[in-house]
Amino acid sequence: MQWSPECKTGFDEIDSQHRLLFAISNELLDIENPVKQQDEVKYLLHHLIDYVDKHFKTEEEYFSKHSYPGIKDHKERHIDISKQIRQVVTESKNMTELKEHLDTMLDQWIRVHVLIEDKKFSVWAISKGIIK
Ligand SMILES: [Fe+2]
Repeated sequence: MQWSPECKTGFDEIDSQHRLLFAISNELLDIENPVKQQDEVKYLLHHLIDYVDKHFKTEEEYFSKHSYPGIKDHKERHIDISKQIRQVVTESKNMTELKEHLDTMLDQWIRVHVLIEDKKFSVWAISKGIIK
């Protein structure tokens, strides 16, 4: 997954968190042998879950601060994603399966989350003159 200018929301804190999310996800995606590297998978996954929670909290603080009208829907998406990540962990029978599920999920949700959901907030914030 490549960071590109189209991923930018215009909120520096959110953008730098997205970069780190991409970085953690890429490290996970790069793991070639999840059985041999299971400690690494577990470590990165733990890190990802913590960081996603922190990131969603940050975003929600921005939504509240600026009285973003899409806050309810976006918060629901956050809850869905958090559930999905945890489900991948509990429903995978082994490391290979876990890695397969993670690869599919990461690619999909990061794209949707950053490029679609967060972009809506960004477009709205620009229209209100909150950011340029
Ligand atoms: Fe985000």
